[in-house]
Amino acid sequence: MRLPKLAQFIIIVGVIYGLLKTPGIFLGKPIPESLIFMYMVLIVATVLLVMTSTDESTEELFRPIRALVEDPKKAFVRNIVFAVTPLIAGYIAYGLASRGGEPPAELRSIHPAPPSRMSAYGRPYDIATLENPLRRTEKEDAELFRSYVAEGAEIYFKNCFFCHGDKLDGRGHYAHGLSPRPLPFKGKDTIAQLSESYVFWRVVKGGPGLPAEGGPANSSMPAWEGKLTEEEVWKVILFLYDFTGNRPREWAREK
Ligand code: HEC
Repeated sequence: MRLPKLAQFIIIVGVIYGLLKTPGIFLGKPIPESLIFMYMVLIVATVLLVMTSTDESTEELFRPIRALVEDPKKAFVRNIVFAVTPLIAGYIAYGLASRGGEPPAELRSIHPAPPSRMSAYGRPYDIATLENPLRRTEKEDAELFRSYVAEGAEIYFKNCFFCHGDKLDGRGHYAHGLSPRPLPFKGKDTIAQLSESYVFWRVVKGGPGLPAEGGPANSSMPAWEGKLTEEEVWKVILFLYDFTGNRPREWAREK
């Protein structure tokens, strides 16, 4: 007696699945589920291709399924299958949902290491040695320094306060809708811990410039390279430190 095509199909696929499972069951060296899934998709596709190569074989393969759906004499079996199938699907879905209901933890590094070099404004920067060129006016020409800070304030309130807040506390109008939240500059946890070159990198390259550990890449912090000039960025940085009473972090220097 020849086996019906559908039974052949089920046996072939079942045997191959069993073979892929054996190393795990008998040798304790399982093939990863994701790999087995990939193999099975290929195998099912291949067996289907072979079994449906002619019209007759296709018809033979699907005849039992068609009979199940159409044959009035199979109404009883049909009702059972149609009732049980959604129940099985529901059971599997319920199992998945109750096993992993937690969203994945967000392991985001708030201050990832900057690249050692970056290019912006058409030239390279060495972040380790980069300094704010306007900072020396703080000691040398207080009046000029105040005017830079005032210009920085204007730049801030034109471009940044929607997100970072009018008190620089990270609570701008848009902040509640953003994830990750805009960072505050007030307090000792953000810019107080950073060098001005780091802040420069963050303002110029924004969220898109964050390395992978700063991701998932959904920071809304814009890259200001195309919108502010280099000098404007340095001015707004002067303002961030001045307004919050923070000092930029400096690296110990050899005298
Ligand atoms: C659309 C909202 C938005 C605007 C506008 C915006 N930022 Fe941001 N900014 C963010 C978010 C969100 C973060 C936190 C995520 C991140 O680090 O990228 C951030 C982070 C930063 C950081 C990093 C601070 C740290 O401690 O690492 C700096 C510096 C910064 N912004 C400066 C600015 C400046 C200066 C402006 C204006 C020229 C500006 N931002 C405008 C959303 C914004």
